[in-house]
Amino acid sequence: MRALRAILVASVMLPAVHASATDLEVTHWWTSGGEAAAVKELATAFDATGNKWIDGAIAGSGGTARPIMISRITGGDPMGATQFNHGRQAEELAKSGMMRDLTAVAEKEKWKDIIKPASLLASCTIDGKIYCAPVNIHSWQWLWLSNAAFKTAGVAVPKNWDEFVAAAPALEKAGIIPLAIGGQPWQSTGAFNVLMIAIAGKPTFEKVFSDKDEKVAAGPEIAKVFKAADDARRMSKGSNVQDWNQATNMVITAKAGGQIMGDWAQGEFALAKQKAGVDYTCLPGLGVNEVISTDGDAFYFPVLKDAAKSKAQEALASTIVSPKVQVAFNLKKGSLPIRGDIDLAAANDCMKKGLEILAKGNVVRSVNQLVSADTQKQLEDLFSEFFAKPSMTPVDAQKRFAAIIASAD
Ligand code: GAL
Repeated sequence: MRALRAILVASVMLPAVHASATDLEVTHWWTSGGEAAAVKELATAFDATGNKWIDGAIAGSGGTARPIMISRITGGDPMGATQFNHGRQAEELAKSGMMRDLTAVAEKEKWKDIIKPASLLASCTIDGKIYCAPVNIHSWQWLWLSNAAFKTAGVAVPKNWDEFVAAAPALEKAGIIPLAIGGQPWQSTGAFNVLMIAIAGKPTFEKVFSDKDEKVAAGPEIAKVFKAADDARRMSKGSNVQDWNQATNMVITAKAGGQIMGDWAQGEFALAKQKAGVDYTCLPGLGVNEVISTDGDAFYFPVLKDAAKSKAQEALASTIVSPKVQVAFNLKKGSLPIRGDIDLAAANDCMKKGLEILAKGNVVRSVNQLVSADTQKQLEDLFSEFFAKPSMTPVDAQKRFAAIIASAD
């Protein structure tokens, strides 16, 4: 009798446990090989909570995915969670009350004490409330070089941007495109911003993007950056690819000498079984100025009416921040963990360089964190035009740049 009662109790209890677990659709734009491998780590860890990750990958890039994500949320068809770069991309959604306030979860788990640097959580915070769970620190400021390409061209692997520019003719002679840049607007814009920190330095970068100082934007320091962008434009002629990972693949296969791209490129080298320092070389800050930006990706959670799904959102938020997931995800992705208290013994040489720069505090906020999505779009229009149209002079491009900065918010 007692046994029977126990079975009955168990069978009544079981569905109760399952009732609180649920499917949660998670949208993101991580579709390259390395990114997909990193996403899998998140999904596996979330599934282990008893819930189920329904993958909502959107191919293309952030530029394609974000408008789709935003229109689903504003149009009344919200997903359970979505990636954004934490910064200002979800600002309007949060302000209009469509995104979930995660402050209670963050306080319970002491995110303020564990998430480093503090600017990561600050970028999730609007009017004192926390709206996102940061998943990584990523940095844009890297030059990825193919050791084999330079060998074929008979020149030493460059140690900095100037040596790279000087090596371009030898690469071209050997039939190798010096610099691979994909056609999506965010790639040339990102490369320009990286050149700015390397060539003009952090104070100038901050005067332009943080203070929105139009005079500096129109001045001689930024003119030098446009001159470098002109070199980059020439060196990238014939790239003929769209996606960033296709450009990375050109470096992996030694069809291109190098690529300016964020640390996510590292996931592709890892997947191709290439080794940092042996098959490829990474130069943080283009080998000129070792500063990295500390924004990254974060998950945001639309307000949902369904209680079980709301509970699952909390489970996903704490899964993302947990030490185990931080290690597994970031090793696959090539990015850095958002907490300083975890062991990254398995990090490769490039990640170690990134961690050292971070430890020295040589960091800068990213453009995503400093300008609105509108301003970002205007910058992307400018740089995609500049890179696609050799007839647009650096002087004309700088004039337009200064005008964008003058009206930036
Ligand atoms: C960025 C994103 C990175 C990266 C990259 C290329 O916006 O934050 O995590 O994967 O796009 O897809």
